Amino acid sequence: MAKKAFSVPRGTSDILPDDMIQWNDLEEKARNILGCYGYREMRTPIFEETELFARSVGQASDIVQKQMLNLAAQGDKAHVGDMTVSGLSLRPEGTASIVRSYIENRFDRAEKLSKLFYIGPMFRGERPQKGRLRQFHQIGVEAIGPESASPYLDAELIALSVDIINSFGIDDVILKLNTLGTKEDKKNFSDYLKQNIGGCLSKLCPDCLSRYERNVFRVLDCKNKNCKAALKGLVLDHSYLSQDSRDYYGAVKAALNILGVSYQEVPSLVRGLDYYTHVVFEVSCPKLGSQDAIGAGGRYNQLVEDLGGLSADAMGFALGIERMLLATSSLVQEQRQGIDLFVVVLEERFFPRALQILKSVRCQGVRADMSFIAGSMKSQMRQANKLNARHVAIIGEEEFNRGILAVKNMNDGSQQEFSLEDLDELIKKVKT
Ligand code: HAM
Repeated sequence: MAKKAFSVPRGTSDILPDDMIQWNDLEEKARNILGCYGYREMRTPIFEETELFARSVGQASDIVQKQMLNLAAQGDKAHVGDMTVSGLSLRPEGTASIVRSYIENRFDRAEKLSKLFYIGPMFRGERPQKGRLRQFHQIGVEAIGPESASPYLDAELIALSVDIINSFGIDDVILKLNTLGTKEDKKNFSDYLKQNIGGCLSKLCPDCLSRYERNVFRVLDCKNKNCKAALKGLVLDHSYLSQDSRDYYGAVKAALNILGVSYQEVPSLVRGLDYYTHVVFEVSCPKLGSQDAIGAGGRYNQLVEDLGGLSADAMGFALGIERMLLATSSLVQEQRQGIDLFVVVLEERFFPRALQILKSVRCQGVRADMSFIAGSMKSQMRQANKLNARHVAIIGEEEFNRGILAVKNMNDGSQQEFSLEDLDELIKKVKT
């Protein structure tokens, strides 16, 4: 009986060698830009205490209610709303972990503003579809500390997110902007929504009815046509915010104008994570269809204190790598990088010499390879072409006896002999 063949789990994917070229390119560009802006990379574990996510992302959020991937039977039990779940969960996002680490490692003692970034996988038990995965990757950026409390920092971070996205050749994006105000303003906003939506509950979908009770902001996100129609007359004019919060928002917009970053104000943008205060934003790429947010973020001035640290304002964002790759896939036809040198070995007994040559040239940064079976010249040349080799060196009887390599330039067909006594000349030739 044939043995069962395994497939990659739904909502995850293998990143194959050809894909890695684009992944590495994207990460390198991001690291360079983040370095220019003064951000330092760090890494946290891919799982944490479930309670950390419940207390930061929010007990009532969809992420914590429906999408957490618990590590069954690991760690003490945790209580999420009325559920009792495993004490450890795969991280659905990076901000909570970074704040946990910021507090635990007493970053506040060393600096008044910590500028941090991370690149890595996140996990959400969502129903998979195009652009919505169970394991996906984020480039996340967080600025934490009392000195982050500046509208100029908000504007700079938002501009940074757009800079990184643009550096991948993605220009057709819309930056959506809104403010939720302080913790107290959010309470007023929530009361305002409850009052104004309360009259049309019968027209809302069952999901929105429960959102109305648990987290009324999420009603504004509903894609259901009837819910959208029911909310049409709702006035979202920031009148529920304090004057200070409105002034802060005005200062962020003015700084964005100075930086030449264009934005669309979307007063219904509330975001699905509870920790946000003040400015929230989302960068979307309309051609991606229903999952069009390629990055999002905002301020979270309360979170450090809520997680047991000293009060510290903070702001950050995260970009979804897979969604950015979807947005670039129509632009970039990535060429396989290719190698500098392929060594064709015509007889088994020449392999020891070929191995030595490969070792020597690779030490000098030459990308080199060979076939490990002394097949026909034709089959080895086919392999060289497949690897996109720019040069091919042949070791046959004559080359072996004379201690030389005959090297063919695959672009122009020219041939040249090199002595094995001194490989420097060969290295110079094939590396250019
Ligand atoms: P988020 O909006 O949940 O925010 O995720 C940020 C980005 O991650 C999204 O815009 C999207 O590109 C990508 N993403 C999210 N879920 C999925 C999924 N299931 N499949 C594929 N891509 C996905 C956060 O995670 C916050 N931690 C951002 C932040 C940092 N706020 C402040 N600091």
